[in-house]
Amino acid sequence: LVAAMEEVEETYIMVKPDGVQRGLVGEIISRFEKKGFKLTGLKLFQCPKDLAEEHYKDHKGKPFFPKLIGYITSGPVVCMAWEGIGVVASARKLIGATNPLNAEPGTLRGDLAVQTGRNIVHGSDSPENGKREIGKI
Ligand code: TYD
Repeated sequence: LVAAMEEVEETYIMVKPDGVQRGLVGEIISRFEKKGFKLTGLKLFQCPKDLAEEHYKDHKGKPFFPKLIGYITSGPVVCMAWEGIGVVASARKLIGATNPLNAEPGTLRGDLAVQTGRNIVHGSDSPENGKREIGKI
């Protein structure tokens, strides 16, 4: 019965351009390492506009969409695959709320960011999206 909650999963974590520019890559990797997850893939990547639009397709048409695409393509990102039991939901907890002002202290966004449009890191919201996002890189 507990097995469903203890499945080994994979998630896609991306340090956004502001996180890279601010020198936060090491700190972000360190949080996931210390938690006990396993880094299975890593790549510095300049995201093209079409891939950014695909990645954020659920937000297409929203007022913040053009800024979001401009932000994500503004400089290199660090793309990572992380593996572990329950890693998808746990990574989202470690990252914190979308708006860093609402993110709890102790989370990456809570400790290291202020603005929603500069929230330093992305984490997949489901195992399916984790697989899909890792597959694009
Ligand atoms: P979302 O998937 O809702 O959040 P999360 O990154 O926590 O999974 O939104 C994706 C990104 O879109 C978010 O990290 C920052 C940007 N965004 C804005 O710029 N303004 C907004 O009002 C929202 C909801 C998101």
